[in-house]
Amino acid sequence: MRGKFYGIGVGVGDPELITMKAVKLLKNVDIIVLPEAKKTEGSTAFDIAKDYIDENAQKLFLEFPMISDEEKKKEIRRNNAKKIEQLLENGKNMAFLTIGDPMTYSTYTYILDYLGSEFEVETVPGITSFNSIASRVNVPLVIGDEDLKIISLSSATKLKKEIEGNDNIVFMKISRYFDKLRAAIKETGNSENVILVSNCGKEDEEIHTNLDEIEKVPYFSTLILKKGGVKHG
Ligand SMILES: C[S@@+](CC[C@H](N)C(=O)[O-])C[C@H]1O[C@@H](n2cnc3c(N)ncnc32)[C@H](O)[C@@H]1O
Repeated sequence: MRGKFYGIGVGVGDPELITMKAVKLLKNVDIIVLPEAKKTEGSTAFDIAKDYIDENAQKLFLEFPMISDEEKKKEIRRNNAKKIEQLLENGKNMAFLTIGDPMTYSTYTYILDYLGSEFEVETVPGITSFNSIASRVNVPLVIGDEDLKIISLSSATKLKKEIEGNDNIVFMKISRYFDKLRAAIKETGNSENVILVSNCGKEDEEIHTNLDEIEKVPYFSTLILKKGGVKHG
């Protein structure tokens, strides 16, 4: 019998912010699939979930390098999906770990794009970075009839237009373009309306409301802009 493929969200830092369903499955699968950006980097998702993983489970590290060559990226994803298919064919149940939620900016969905429809898939949601951050600082993401936009920051993001057009914005992947983001926040008069959290739920967590005090922004950082203000009630 073929194995089943699970995508499991493990949250972004605090190991207690994981579903009971995820914990149950992690104890019972044969293989834990761990995505990594570089071969030597290890896995943040594994660090979060390690206490729930059976010590006999096999680990399969799959590299998904952050490169600009789109064709090469597709080839790597296709090859990684093939490796997973072969193990599923051999009857192995596999859990692909993903930080936060598997359906929110996750490599997991690239695997789903290439996995044959004959394979059974189950996705277990996790708490996203921005949901964790909102709770961490006791500030609502949205209330009443406000809107919320989620943006993965890139060189193409029209920052002023986005800030002017939305009540609340979650900016993810901000480390590379932080200077540009900070300038747009200041120019639109929103310096008092932001919270930036790095490494939420981890030992080295940092929470900032004053952008001028920030020099370097780690990769695991998210900024929430609320035009109605970020003070909690
Ligand atoms: C590839 S995306 C993963 C998103 C994730 N699947 C989620 O549900 O939030 C990586 C981005 O998620 C955000 N992120 C992940 N972990 C975080 C953390 N512990 N603290 C703050 N932001 C985090 C950052 O914006 C980071 O650049």
